[in-house]
Amino acid sequence: MRQRLERVFLCAAQKLRRLVREHPDQFPMYTTGGKWDFSGEVWTNWCEGFPGGQFWLLYQHTSEPEWRRLAEHYARLIEGRKTDRNVHDLGFLFWPTWKPWYDLTGDPEHQAVLIEAGQTMGLRYREKGQYLHSFLAENSLFIDIMMNVGIVFYAARQTGDTALEEKALRHCLTTRRTLVRGDGSTAHEGIFDPETGEFLRQSTQQGWRSDSSWARGLAWALYGFGTVYGLTGDPRFLDTAEACARYYMERTPAHGVPPNDWDEPDPLYPYESSAAAIAASGLLQLAGLSPARRPASVYREYALQILDTLCEPEFLALEEREWDGVLKHGIYHLRKGLGVDESVMWGDYFFLEACFRVLHGD
Ligand code: GLY
Repeated sequence: MRQRLERVFLCAAQKLRRLVREHPDQFPMYTTGGKWDFSGEVWTNWCEGFPGGQFWLLYQHTSEPEWRRLAEHYARLIEGRKTDRNVHDLGFLFWPTWKPWYDLTGDPEHQAVLIEAGQTMGLRYREKGQYLHSFLAENSLFIDIMMNVGIVFYAARQTGDTALEEKALRHCLTTRRTLVRGDGSTAHEGIFDPETGEFLRQSTQQGWRSDSSWARGLAWALYGFGTVYGLTGDPRFLDTAEACARYYMERTPAHGVPPNDWDEPDPLYPYESSAAAIAASGLLQLAGLSPARRPASVYREYALQILDTLCEPEFLALEEREWDGVLKHGIYHLRKGLGVDESVMWGDYFFLEACFRVLHGD
């Protein structure tokens, strides 16, 4: 298995070297026909932390100084986004880039960037409804924000801001109550009454229907609630992460890669590989968070099954020199026709992160 995972690092190094050579200082999101597409619609700008995050993983894995130079450079390129109020994704941008940098240096200047990004995220809080609102509208809550609330906890704790920490906690409880269902499945979006804060209904942007299960959204929940359990020790969040994990494992074929939405009848595309990569990393995290609990080894084994599948030539583009991404068969936005059955930058990032967790016991 280790050799198979090493090939993922080899592939990532090969693809990222070309990205830097052919498209310096650019941040692709998805490919079209296997080539990074810089002209296609992006919908929202949330992927600018993933090249830098991969450079840090490559540096930590190989100790080659060039990867660190690139990681620092690509972190600097997005520094100004720490005050960006247009997206709900500042965790995706800053955690994979500035957090490893700060961990390495202990430089307060690096930490200040993380804190400011977390405080900016905190400005999305809606008292009426008690959630951090999505980029779409103030009455909209996305399941994806569970991956970005960690940086709000971080900013709150580093500055002793208990009101901000309370907002982060409330966001997680609202998401758990309104978007996670009794069977562990998740809705993508929640719509609230802006006047009263009343939760009105579940909805979706990237899934099949409002009452169906968009696979990547559920993977974000599995991973995000696990992270928040790690931060708070609140057993409610561990229960939620485990419910999502059980749903994923029960509904997905034995190879471990789901379709874009589990409920869509006869989907045109059988795979959404980025959801599988996120789930693999989230399951490995979960196995570490609940080591004494019986299912820990189940989570780990299932994660290894996913990674084993993603290392097959069907998914890993190692031999396809002209294909720009690492992981094939991802889907960004099926309804809009963006990045469908292509490589997506976050898929490559979380695939590498999951491999790193196995190889380095993180
Ligand atoms: N905006 C995050 C996603 O597409 O999953």
